[in-house]
Amino acid sequence: MKTIRNPEELQRQCMQWEREGHRIGLVPTMGYFHEGHLSLMDACRGQCDKLVVSLFVNPTQFGPGEDLDSYPRDEARDARLAHEHGTDVLFCPEPGGMYHEDHGTWIEVPEMARGLCGASRPIHFRGVCTVVNKLFMLARPAVAVFGQKDWQQLAIIRRMVRDLHIPVQIVGHPIVREADGLALSSRNVYLTDEERAVAPNIHKTLAEAADLVASGERDAGAVKRFITDRLAETVPMGRIDYAELVDPDNLAPLERISGPALAAVAMFMSKARLIDNYLIGV
Ligand code: PAF
Repeated sequence: MKTIRNPEELQRQCMQWEREGHRIGLVPTMGYFHEGHLSLMDACRGQCDKLVVSLFVNPTQFGPGEDLDSYPRDEARDARLAHEHGTDVLFCPEPGGMYHEDHGTWIEVPEMARGLCGASRPIHFRGVCTVVNKLFMLARPAVAVFGQKDWQQLAIIRRMVRDLHIPVQIVGHPIVREADGLALSSRNVYLTDEERAVAPNIHKTLAEAADLVASGERDAGAVKRFITDRLAETVPMGRIDYAELVDPDNLAPLERISGPALAAVAMFMSKARLIDNYLIGV
């Protein structure tokens, strides 16, 4: 495995692979790998013959007061794990290498970025779309794999790729969970013992909401109330940022559940903000 820090060097390497007829796969990450990241690498490895993993804590997707400076980092451990999971190039740029001081070009999908996480993180998806687009330009992947835990991110990236005719196949990979149901996240390290003990109730509540729909409930408002009441009861120290039922493709809020619905939740704990979701089929 080769580590590349210079964006132009990555582009040169990937253009050469393209000329040689290789199929390039990309897994964009912000590092501090857990099983979720590793499963993205494994999934991508199976669909390409040159695997690029990017490790970049992208400053433009963090708002003021968010955890950019304290975001957990361990490049040496990440490099070892990426190598073990078949990565050909680990791309670790410096922020100054990715953004010129007078950077002024942004990619946005504003309709889909307004709700859910976008409501409390107004510049987040602009930063994500811009950096992912840069990574596509540099790594020139035929396939890129993203986790379904960040469902809104995945849906927005799919829309960006469709709207801009970017020649990449986007693969959404299922959420990887701890044995007790908590979705894996680099930010789980911020949880106190007490918070960690009840955090699995987020997934449990979403699964119960899916059961409610399976038993015939079609009023999205009633399902949302069920979720917020249950979370208030079972995760008492958390503060609900949102609990929503949305169309899984365009993220529009639902009033009636008449087809596939995504139940999505974000909760603030003392230092962490946890997100989770559950695809409900009707
Ligand atoms: O999901 C993430 O880790 C980030 O948002 C991404 C896609 C790597 C862009 O910085």
